[in-house]
Amino acid sequence: MRTWIVAGNWKMHNTNEESVALAKAIKDGVSSLKNGEVVLAPPFTSLYRVAQIIKGSSISLAAQNMFYEDKGAFTGEISPVMLKDIGCTYVIIGHSERRKYFHEKDADVNLKVKKALALGLKPIMCVGETDEEREKNVTRAVVGRQVKEGLRGVDKIDNVVIAYEPVWAIGTGKVATPAQAQDVHAFIRAILKDIYHDAAAGIRILYGGSVTADNISELIAMEDIDGALVGGASLKTDGFLGIIKNIAGEK
Ligand code: 13P
Repeated sequence: MRTWIVAGNWKMHNTNEESVALAKAIKDGVSSLKNGEVVLAPPFTSLYRVAQIIKGSSISLAAQNMFYEDKGAFTGEISPVMLKDIGCTYVIIGHSERRKYFHEKDADVNLKVKKALALGLKPIMCVGETDEEREKNVTRAVVGRQVKEGLRGVDKIDNVVIAYEPVWAIGTGKVATPAQAQDVHAFIRAILKDIYHDAAAGIRILYGGSVTADNISELIAMEDIDGALVGGASLKTDGFLGIIKNIAGEK
């Protein structure tokens, strides 16, 4: 019932030339997709070039962040209107690196999610606990708060994608076990069910954190894991195509 998504978050990597080469190689490797979607999130500077390459293919474009106003005197920010204009379908919002280094709070995430939806962009809203929070056994409290606060005032959830990315698993090679990830994914879906009832069953919840072609199969076999948000492994054609192939084979 839910279609899978594999999204590559290139973070602050790749010049235009490198982005073009990677996007072309991925496009060539992704021919026909069954029940799924591939999304590329290059840095802002490469969005236009990547958009031209994937035009007419089954690959969608995402931005890694946005501001919550349409336009104005906000030096250095990028508006969702600009992202739509350049060809984005998705936008990553509230990534833990935004929360950690740029001090984004749940309230900022909420403003961005609402603005993205209002302008027809699909937010990929990221949530996840730190190592310390997991140790203290407050994972559910933290993730529950991030989900509820991030979605506050959102009445229609259909276009929202959630990404559960435990902070301790990002870029560390310390991937969550399938059971750990499924437990939090099911918890998130239960929260969505409380708020959005039947619509919760259709919401894609992605796992992110040290995903590779080697570990994705057992994660994606879990009932509530609907895809992956991939960092490091999305920067190499073979690694990323391997993840897509393994997800498409399982779901
Ligand atoms: P890694 O796959 O490099 O752990 O990064 C995950 C991530 O942050 C994707 O948004």
